[in-house]
Amino acid sequence: MEVTNIAQKSPSLPWKTRLTVSILCAATDASQRRDGTVNRRLLGFFNFKAPPNPNPINGVETSDITADPSRNLWFRLFVPTNPDQTLPVIVFFHGGGFVYLTADSKAYDAVCRRFARKVPAIVVSVNYRLAPEHRYPAQYDDGFDVLKFLDDNKSQVLPENADLSRCFLAGDSAGANLAHHVAYRAAESNFQKLKA
Ligand SMILES: *[C@@H]1O[C@H](CO)[C@@H](O)[C@H](O)[C@H]1NC(C)=O
Repeated sequence: MEVTNIAQKSPSLPWKTRLTVSILCAATDASQRRDGTVNRRLLGFFNFKAPPNPNPINGVETSDITADPSRNLWFRLFVPTNPDQTLPVIVFFHGGGFVYLTADSKAYDAVCRRFARKVPAIVVSVNYRLAPEHRYPAQYDDGFDVLKFLDDNKSQVLPENADLSRCFLAGDSAGANLAHHVAYRAAESNFQKLKA
């Protein structure tokens, strides 16, 4: 009886999740050098990527859009194909301690696709520049500049049913920190259409 109760209170993670987490931890540990620098080539080997796809997968089509070619700032756009109502826009920042992962990492591609379908919403997943090559506040600048880009270029880059006056910022881990600071800057700025 006791055992059943405990099991109900703390459900164990599926083995696939546990395996993935341990592989990711090992890869992250192995790619950190003692002097604090990062072995990008090794980490890149573990960063499985997903290409953008104009053909809907699970009802969501994706494309990569460049906001500023001079610093290779781009985002992946997730557009649900079914709903014809207006949709909110979620600007998402991936995690990875400011040094790891990308907007086209397989796991983030999958989670953003899920948000787009389930909410439903248009999702903009920002590929901000990474430290230590690009130091603070480069990541916050990139996040904020993507908001400006969307505000300025809405009709060219977002589908007609995107409602920028309902814009939400989200992220996990370092991405949550980014969402917070970019929202803070956004609150002090004047946009034409965007309301965060
Ligand atoms: C809007 O897009 C144009 C063309 O890509 C670009 O030159 C401009 O800087 C963009 N606006 C912002 C605020 O990024």
